[in-house]
Amino acid sequence: MIRVQEITKKYARNLAVDHISFEVQKGEIVGFLGPNGAGKTTTMRMLTCFLPPTSGTATVAGFDVLEQPLEVKKRIGYLPEMPPLYPEMGTAEYLSFVGKLKGLSGAELSKRIDYVCERCAIADVKKKLLGRLSKGYRQRVGLAQAIIHNPDVLILDEPTAGLDPKQINETRDLIRGLAGDHTIILSTHILPEVEQTCQQVIIINKGKLVATDTVQNLQSRARGAESVLVEVAGRNGNLNSASVQHRLEQIAGVSRVSLKESRDSRNIFEIESQKNFVRGDLARAVVESGWDLNELRSAAMSLEQIFLQLTREEAASEPEKLAAKGAIAYLLLTMFAVIFGFFFWNSLGYFVIRTMEAQMSGQTFPVNLNEYIIRPLLSNVSVIGLFFIPMITMRLFAEEKRTGKFRVPL
Ligand SMILES: Nc1ncnc2c1ncn2[C@@H]1O[C@H](COP(=O)(O)OP(=O)(O)OP(=O)(O)O)[C@@H](O)[C@H]1O
Ligand SMILES: [Mg+2]
Repeated sequence: MIRVQEITKKYARNLAVDHISFEVQKGEIVGFLGPNGAGKTTTMRMLTCFLPPTSGTATVAGFDVLEQPLEVKKRIGYLPEMPPLYPEMGTAEYLSFVGKLKGLSGAELSKRIDYVCERCAIADVKKKLLGRLSKGYRQRVGLAQAIIHNPDVLILDEPTAGLDPKQINETRDLIRGLAGDHTIILSTHILPEVEQTCQQVIIINKGKLVATDTVQNLQSRARGAESVLVEVAGRNGNLNSASVQHRLEQIAGVSRVSLKESRDSRNIFEIESQKNFVRGDLARAVVESGWDLNELRSAAMSLEQIFLQLTREEAASEPEKLAAKGAIAYLLLTMFAVIFGFFFWNSLGYFVIRTMEAQMSGQTFPVNLNEYIIRPLLSNVSVIGLFFIPMITMRLFAEEKRTGKFRVPL
């Protein structure tokens, strides 16, 4: 239903979406996950024809977003991050206006208005001005306008943002209820929402796709990397935590052991292990070493941990690259300053000496191409250079500060 191939969006020098490809089948609900600034809204805007991609293609129901935007828009219901509501319009009036824009009219339009008001629980504010609605209600009206023309595809940018817990549940139910007939992409920061609502997850970070999988697969991936909490106690009142840690680390399959808490003769360790790790080995090792095993409990990684892990891995290599970029900029600037400084001081010194010589001897020197053309030219260039250096430096500092990449390489 939705096919995205190598889609890219560049805002000036900022690569907001970087060669993302994915597919969504008919009737699926897909969760679009990513930290702030990951590029979710930008991708959604490209899919809904609000923004043209810098490169790459996307098709919705077989229609290309660049070549057939009208066909695409007919089939899409879009709830933007900030619903575009006219504050001076009443709720029903606004829904009727949007419905007409989407090609509805007459009895069909009133039927759809009643239906969406019912589904989005906004029937009680039908006559109220949009400007006077609370944030949650505005969000619901935004959702209502997205589904008014019963579109094949729904693109919802944080549909539950600003709703109360009851409404969040109802909206999730509504979204689940719409699946099957509709294909839905929703962006969210709320991970349980993805677990409860979506079948497939697309995770992006800094404009790049980091994972696309089914919720079940991600969950089993989370379970694969298991983490276990073990409480070990010493029988005669004392326990050497270092030797317990050492013993636990020796067990096959254990990748990391860390001491979480140490109280009297009881220690709690967190143990990370690979898949197929048998917890029995752990229990046996503790008991056979003469310690008591007070507790052994699984702290399975949640989808949240997986998400954090995936988005952290991507970020890890970034600072080095930035520092290198900063260093190159400083190196270039230093070279620039040295070259122009050399020209400037050289020509200035030469000029001062010659002037003094001329004044002292009362003579004028013969016209010399080098002295009258090349030297003044070079000294002017160096003066311009002196203006350029602080200008470029300040520009670079401002840019680096704006993008949060401020680094001093010294
Ligand atoms: N109109 C714009 N002009 C310039 N840069 C933009 C514009 N819109 C977004 N960006 C930049 O593109 C990047 C991705 O932004 P986007 O809004 O798509 O993120 P997001 O994943 O939706 O984040 P959030 O979770 O905060 O809504 C950010 O670095 C942002 O600063
Ligand atoms: Mg966004």
